Amino acid sequence: MDKYLINGGKVLSGEIEISGSKNASLPLLFASILSDEKITINNVPDLKDIQTCCSLLEVLGVSVIREGSTIHLCGKELNSYEAPYELVSTMRASVLVMGPLLARIGKAKVSLPGGCSLGARPINLHLDFFRTLGAKVNLIHGYVEIECGNMNGTDYHFDQKTVTGTMNALFLAVLTPGTTIMHNCALEPEVVELCLLLKSMGANIRGEGSETIIVQGVSILHGTEYRVIPDRIECGTIMIAAAITYGKIRLKSCNPKHMTALMRKLITAGVDIEYDHEGRTISIDAKNKYNGTSISTQPYPGFPTDLQAQYMALMSLANGTTIITENIFENRFMHVSELKRMGANLIIQGNTVVVTGVEYLSGAKVMATDIRAGAGLILAALRAKGETEISRIYHVERGYEHIEKKLSSLGASIRRVIE
Ligand code: EPZ
Repeated sequence: MDKYLINGGKVLSGEIEISGSKNASLPLLFASILSDEKITINNVPDLKDIQTCCSLLEVLGVSVIREGSTIHLCGKELNSYEAPYELVSTMRASVLVMGPLLARIGKAKVSLPGGCSLGARPINLHLDFFRTLGAKVNLIHGYVEIECGNMNGTDYHFDQKTVTGTMNALFLAVLTPGTTIMHNCALEPEVVELCLLLKSMGANIRGEGSETIIVQGVSILHGTEYRVIPDRIECGTIMIAAAITYGKIRLKSCNPKHMTALMRKLITAGVDIEYDHEGRTISIDAKNKYNGTSISTQPYPGFPTDLQAQYMALMSLANGTTIITENIFENRFMHVSELKRMGANLIIQGNTVVVTGVEYLSGAKVMATDIRAGAGLILAALRAKGETEISRIYHVERGYEHIEKKLSSLGASIRRVIE
């Protein structure tokens, strides 16, 4: 299995471009199912999850042509409504085909995703929404089979905020007759981007970015061209890389507005940050040791769960004690035991981790368990004394575009070893 070998202790400095967002790209690509006209998506990152998404679209009959960071799609020849186990089990976000398939051809058969290293991750709210609009849902042989009955827009309240649940609901509502009013929607920028793409295809949506989204169904959607927003999680990970190595980094092609929760915490911890909304840059200067600053993960605009592991690596070297509370996923502390192997002082108490800052971490053999846990280990390794060997890096490569090249360009000693 391929690995990263990292020699810690280098101060990172320089400039870096932030890639397009993985979690914004996926729903935009799946939107191609909704129309028989051409869709072009620009600024798509080169990642394993994007390849899985394109393979799934091809299985369904969507034509996919990739030219660098641009993907051209056409759903004219859509000829299947089944998302097979093999693809859904490698990428849970495959469930995002459900809404578009139901909207376009009235049925979907999708392998039910099991739990993952983050927890049980049910999709009951997605299914509940489909049922409320009039669909019939059955679970047979590990597959969810959904068929549209007499569909009509209605009022729906999500019991809990869900990012992909809100997206699946939008996909179905845009082509369902009548008005659908959705309450307690997710506010994440990736949801807003999906609304803007759908509107550019002819959908009638109001309220994106607020908790109540109102959709007036239309009968047909058209082709469009759309650019993916910068990846706020890659951006946050690089910001933390600057802080943990006492480095000085200028991040370009990013959106400072999406980074407010992390910026507030880093500034409180003692890191110097400047940002320019118009120029789309963030500059981090981290000369000094920083102070423990507690966080609690929340849906957007709160502190993102997808930066919790990276932030924990940072706080494991801070002055004093930090409390890290995970509120989104029940099992997102798999990185704790790996960071402890590197010398971090971490105690798990329910959904919180008490972090007592240590003077140094030491390189060790560790294992990535999911995309962001792997990123947290990379950050710890950048500051650790000696060499860290990180295995199972296929997790990291699902979500970070050429991370070893990007970090090397900033002065990190990181090598990708093929075994
Ligand atoms: C999205 O996952 C992201 N994935 C995740 O990114 C991210 O961690 C998560 O949102 C939270 O921000 C994509 O965008 C592809 P949720 P999603 O539904 O939509 C519970 C990464 O590393 N819930 O908002 O699956 C759920 O169990 C990843 O890039 C239900 O109970 O997350 C969780 O506790 C991993 N029933 C909470 O809601 C449901 O039907 C929020 O999950 C749906 C969700």
